[in-house]
Amino acid sequence: MATHQGFTLWFTGLSGSGKTTITTHLVKELRKRSVPLEVLDGDIVRENLSKGLGFSKEDRDTNIRRIAFVANLLSRNGVPVITAAISPYREIRNEARELMDGRFVEVYTKAPLEVCEERDVKGLYAKARAGEIKEFTGISDPYEPPETPEILVETDKQSPEESAKQILDFLEDRDLIPAAS
Ligand SMILES: Nc1ncnc2c1ncn2[C@@H]1O[C@H](COP(=O)(O)OP(=O)(O)OP(=O)(O)O)[C@@H](O)[C@H]1O
Ligand SMILES: [Mg+2]
Repeated sequence: MATHQGFTLWFTGLSGSGKTTITTHLVKELRKRSVPLEVLDGDIVRENLSKGLGFSKEDRDTNIRRIAFVANLLSRNGVPVITAAISPYREIRNEARELMDGRFVEVYTKAPLEVCEERDVKGLYAKARAGEIKEFTGISDPYEPPETPEILVETDKQSPEESAKQILDFLEDRDLIPAAS
């Protein structure tokens, strides 16, 4: 059997752009292919590894650096990682990219703010508009889209299944995962 190296699939995109949804599809598919895998979802990381951090630029950067630190530990030992946090700042994402030199696959879940706001999966956009949440990405806090992500998925034009397939095809093409049997 071919050996496959570790990698980090680094999602970035607005709240409600589809990071967690697509991750769920990928996990299902990768388990079927017996790919070992760890997921660092923003919401879960903030409840554990980053508990107590807020949403200032400094705290957001700390949160992302912690995620990158763990993703690096795992991926350098051959364990593929999926990170699914907004990660709004380009500079810190690029720091993660440098840390995981050659193992970093950036996936931009692109959808217009209006679409994400319309979805409002967690009801947070309504609260942000009402001023109940300060520093909300896209509303009152910046989002810096990647300029040259390895993978761009347009989640207002594709289904989650199509986006997941696009990502799996990319990983297969680079021999990072085995093909479906
Ligand atoms: N192509 C698509 N890919 C992903 N999600 C989609 C797509 N089309 C529609 N959706 C819907 O968009 C929503 C995306 O929400 P999701 O929680 O995955 O976003 P998120 O990026 O993880 O947000 P957050 O940063 O707040 O965790 C879901 O309700 C999902 O069903
Ligand atoms: Mg999510």
